[in-house]
Amino acid sequence: MPLAPTRLRGAQFAKLVGALLLQQRGDMGAVLRRTFDRYGPAICVRPERGWFGRRSSRPKDRARDRLSEVWLVADPAIIEALLIREHRSFAKDPLTRELEDVLGLGLLVSEGDAWRHDHRIVQPVLSAGAMRRRLGEVAELVDTALGSWPAGGDLDCAKLFGPLTLEVVSRIALGLSLRDDAPLVGAALEEILDYYAGFGGPGLRAPAKWRTPARRRFEGACAELRALTTRLIDRRAAEPCTAADDDVLGRLLADHRRAPEVLPAARLADQVMTLMLAGNETTTLGLAYALHALAHNPEAQGRWHAEADAAAEQGLELDRLQWTRGIWRETLRMFPPAAGVARVARSDVDLAGLKIPARSLVVVPALAIHRFARWFPDPDAFLPQRFIDPPTWPKLTYLPFGAGPRVCIGSHLADIEAIVALAQIGRRYRLEPQPGAKPLRFKLSVTMRPADGVPIRLVPR
Ligand code: HEM
Repeated sequence: MPLAPTRLRGAQFAKLVGALLLQQRGDMGAVLRRTFDRYGPAICVRPERGWFGRRSSRPKDRARDRLSEVWLVADPAIIEALLIREHRSFAKDPLTRELEDVLGLGLLVSEGDAWRHDHRIVQPVLSAGAMRRRLGEVAELVDTALGSWPAGGDLDCAKLFGPLTLEVVSRIALGLSLRDDAPLVGAALEEILDYYAGFGGPGLRAPAKWRTPARRRFEGACAELRALTTRLIDRRAAEPCTAADDDVLGRLLADHRRAPEVLPAARLADQVMTLMLAGNETTTLGLAYALHALAHNPEAQGRWHAEADAAAEQGLELDRLQWTRGIWRETLRMFPPAAGVARVARSDVDLAGLKIPARSLVVVPALAIHRFARWFPDPDAFLPQRFIDPPTWPKLTYLPFGAGPRVCIGSHLADIEAIVALAQIGRRYRLEPQPGAKPLRFKLSVTMRPADGVPIRLVPR
């Protein structure tokens, strides 16, 4: 049966935008969830032209920047058509494309032949099998990082994981250490994500050509990261190749040397920047939200400790960490670090009966869909058990890493890193809520960031 979409105009549209703006530092997911409950799983909001999407400085992109319609969708068949069946009819969304200012044509942003070429090189290095084989290395890196954690006390755990996740992604994916550069990368990343903060990201910021202080700080941070990336690549390129170079950078360098016209040096740097940044912020947030959830759920925490102790005695193996994996997955359900995915239609397209005109933006807000009570009973409760029992939700309604050909390429690394890190933290610490701390609030940037930190109390076991 064709799905009847709802079109929000006038007062309904203004009410939704008003509610989202009010929750800019709060719970935008709850606003969207209520909107879906009220109007159904396919909602068209019709903004004024140019409302969303900053005009590109590149003339060829301008036509793509003017959106015709904006759709919010939460229906599994539509999501399947959008991200898988009809994926060729869609391009990345304006906010992701705007990341080109930072990431160039790295995998997150690129399309077509460039994406296919680089994806073929990078994907096997980060596959599930490859990551399982590197579990021991990840565990050592986590162990070293935990060595510099405080013995205990009240802290903002959003600040705990940056150096750890940066070191894991750089050593495992790029074959180099960034331990000494972690403060530089952390500060630059903070600047960049602050610049992108705000509802709709691109919509409510000054045009890039206005030389505002925020834009200048943003460009400075990008330049610093670029310079660091170039230094790292040059250093690695000067070293002799060895059989151990089976990481992304080693493979990309080999491909670049073979055919520099197909993989130019600039794109090689784009890929390094992309992995360094995409692999850092998201996993950091996920781990911080997991600790916060555990601090507020003593029962889940008890099972976590028991499992972590058993794994320490019997050996750290993923199969022994079912509950910890449940904790990680449940965290990504309730607090997806990437709040959703979005695409722009290249042409008129039919999505499981939904007619989408060319240049429409279609948004899949995971942060709302992950809390639909019909699929995730008791959706606001933290229940790792739901990822151990058989799933109660249809395919493509749990999508913290996206889906289809553009699914997160680092998901297996993120999973292994997070599960191992949680197991090792569980051995060392008990977690408590910080007395008097307010409930978590979020601000949307490229990722779903905490508005006031992620406060917990760390107690040595
Ligand atoms: C909890 C951690 C993570 C989350 C929640 C996450 C989320 C996502 C999502 C939702 C997408 C799809 C975007 C879209 O369809 O438009 C994506 C893509 C991507 N992610 Fe992740 N990610 C995580 C960790 C990582 C890590 C560790 C790396 C690097 C090793 C990474 C690198 C990438 C890249 C390169 C893409 C683009 C893939 C492509 O289009 O081919 N991510 N991520």
